[in-house]
Amino acid sequence: MLREKTRRFLAYASTILTVLVGALLLLPVSNLRANSGPDSTASGEMFRTKCAMCHGQDGAGSSVGKSMNVPDLRSPVVQKLPDAELAQIISNGKGGMPSFKSSLSDDQIRALVTHIRSLHQKK
Ligand code: HEC
Repeated sequence: MLREKTRRFLAYASTILTVLVGALLLLPVSNLRANSGPDSTASGEMFRTKCAMCHGQDGAGSSVGKSMNVPDLRSPVVQKLPDAELAQIISNGKGGMPSFKSSLSDDQIRALVTHIRSLHQKK
């Protein structure tokens, strides 16, 4: 009788353990997925955290940005610049625009250039 109870308890406990360990193993994997790859959500998120404080989420310019005369990223003035030049500006900065080469990889900068192009299409 007692042994039957103990066995059930052990079965129950090991099920809980399996679920807990499984959840712990799966969590970091799903986190990695969310952050990796230059897909549009990742670059959109990067733009929101690194650039939107000056450029606004839609690229039009936040109030802070407007006080610094940021150009509308959707405008032809910016969109006519070649990818290489946009990447160079993000990397080295320009005027009031800070340099991002120490905080962003080349891939991330390329993803941001693509994101800037997509702002134009959304307009
Ligand atoms: C501290 C505010 C600030 C932040 C943060 C910022 N920018 Fe800028 N950005 C500026 C200003 C100011 C200019 C205008 C520079 C000039 O022409 O003198 C500018 C200009 C630009 C231009 C256009 C340059 C041109 O010649 O037309 C691009 C493209 C750009 N920023 C992209 C980005 C991206 C991408 C990020 C995020 C990684 C970012 N910026 C973050 C302030 C900022």
